[in-house]
Amino acid sequence: KKILFVASEGVPFIKTGGLADVVGSLPKCIDKEYFDVRVMIPKYSCITEEMKQKMTFKTYFHMDFNWKNEYVGIMEAKEDGVTYYFIDNESMFSGFKPYSDNVLEEVTKFSFFSKAALSALALIDFRPDVIHCHDWQTGLVPVYLRERFQGSEFFRGIKSIMTIHNLKFQGKWDVKTVKSITGLPDYFFTPDKLEAYKDANLLKGGIVYADAITTVSDTYAEEIKTPFYGEGMDGLLRAREKDLRGIVNGIDYDDFNPETDKYIEHNYNAVNFRKEKIKNKRALQAELGLEQDDKKMLIGIVSRLTDQKGFDLINYMMEEMCQDAVQIVILGTGEEQYENMFRHFDWKYNNKVSANIFYSEALSHKFYSACDAFLMPSLFEPCGLSQLMALRYGTVPIVRETGGLKDTVEPYNEYESQGTGFSFSNYNAHEMLTAIRYAEHIYYDKKREWNKIIDRGMAADFSWHVSAKKYQEMYDWLIG
Ligand code: ADP
Ligand code: GLC
Repeated sequence: KKILFVASEGVPFIKTGGLADVVGSLPKCIDKEYFDVRVMIPKYSCITEEMKQKMTFKTYFHMDFNWKNEYVGIMEAKEDGVTYYFIDNESMFSGFKPYSDNVLEEVTKFSFFSKAALSALALIDFRPDVIHCHDWQTGLVPVYLRERFQGSEFFRGIKSIMTIHNLKFQGKWDVKTVKSITGLPDYFFTPDKLEAYKDANLLKGGIVYADAITTVSDTYAEEIKTPFYGEGMDGLLRAREKDLRGIVNGIDYDDFNPETDKYIEHNYNAVNFRKEKIKNKRALQAELGLEQDDKKMLIGIVSRLTDQKGFDLINYMMEEMCQDAVQIVILGTGEEQYENMFRHFDWKYNNKVSANIFYSEALSHKFYSACDAFLMPSLFEPCGLSQLMALRYGTVPIVRETGGLKDTVEPYNEYESQGTGFSFSNYNAHEMLTAIRYAEHIYYDKKREWNKIIDRGMAADFSWHVSAKKYQEMYDWLIG
């Protein structure tokens, strides 16, 4: 049975967030005896030279798109037993980053990618039974697929899945322009199909035309059927409820393994973390120029700096948090207001706060291994992988109970000695501070309890083990 992943990013080739982690790790964990899973992503010019070296040229063709005849190159690479294809067109995928802020450019680029992905299949001689699409960038794949059912033996009967990693981003632009860019007939641009609130909406196209819809946690699958989390799509998602399912993400247990991790100075495991983990904390305190104090509770954040992640709560409470006996370290990039907020506190509380406003895979692993606690008070969180990485490295998550955070972090219960982290329920800065201070209390006054929380967190299994099987069941069910 053949499965094709189509996505806008994938580890180790290109990553801006959790989507890349999923696309890079899930295919590896699908049972190779029954499934031939391949992955297709754009060949961005910003992919590193090292990764480009791994690609070989396969073939090319020309495709009508946006009133032009565009070149489509196909490159190929093998990574950990998985075949990757890269769609190449220099002018479409140029730039220093995979995504730009120019919405029309993005809509054009990923419409091109979606059409090219389907058009490439016959040339690479791979007819998937299921095309597994990820996020709005590939929302047009099920649409183009439907269009091609007419008059094409090759495409007829191919099933599609639309996985929503983040409903906030939908890929919208005015109908007239999108019609013209995509070349799709008028038929598709009505409110029961691609049109939403007067615009053409690429993700909506995917949700309407995919045979099945999934999202990345059970709680988020429920949440998006409500107006608050539904981003205007809740009505449609309620209508497609029977075909909508939540499957919680896993993480790559080889890439994220404190025992073998090449990025960290002192490797450790669930047995010796009490002695070893602290050495990473010392090393990070030294590297970031913080006061070197074994005892100080070190709270870490690794994140895109956006509203989604709850930074307005942190903004509101940062001054108070800095009065406590804690150190706060941040690794992230994103909205300027949050970048500047952390730079400000780094300046004001220089030996307590360290703001690292950049992207670094290496430093992120050091954070997960060195910190005592990991703060993630998201406004919404489809799944969240950072808290899973924290759990794996014995770093105690402090989260808001939403989406995947609710499904993966079990709140600490002092009386029953249960739980893997600390959490709060309402999106409220004071509730967040209460949760943080409760964590501080356990950390400082009940160290044995704290260590048991770590024990339970490190013992939890968030590998792909269970969830990959759920995807397999779904593929089987679709193929019939
Ligand atoms: P999202 O996909 O919404 O950004 P996730 O928690 O699912 O959130 O995934 C975020 C991923 O991106 C994690 O692997 C995290 O370690 C990584 N990440 C985020 N910001 C940075 C950064 N500045 N440097 C390195 N890794 C980062
Ligand atoms: C999105 C979500 C995040 C999720 C990731 C991978 O970026 O914001 O919660 O973990 O996709 O599914």
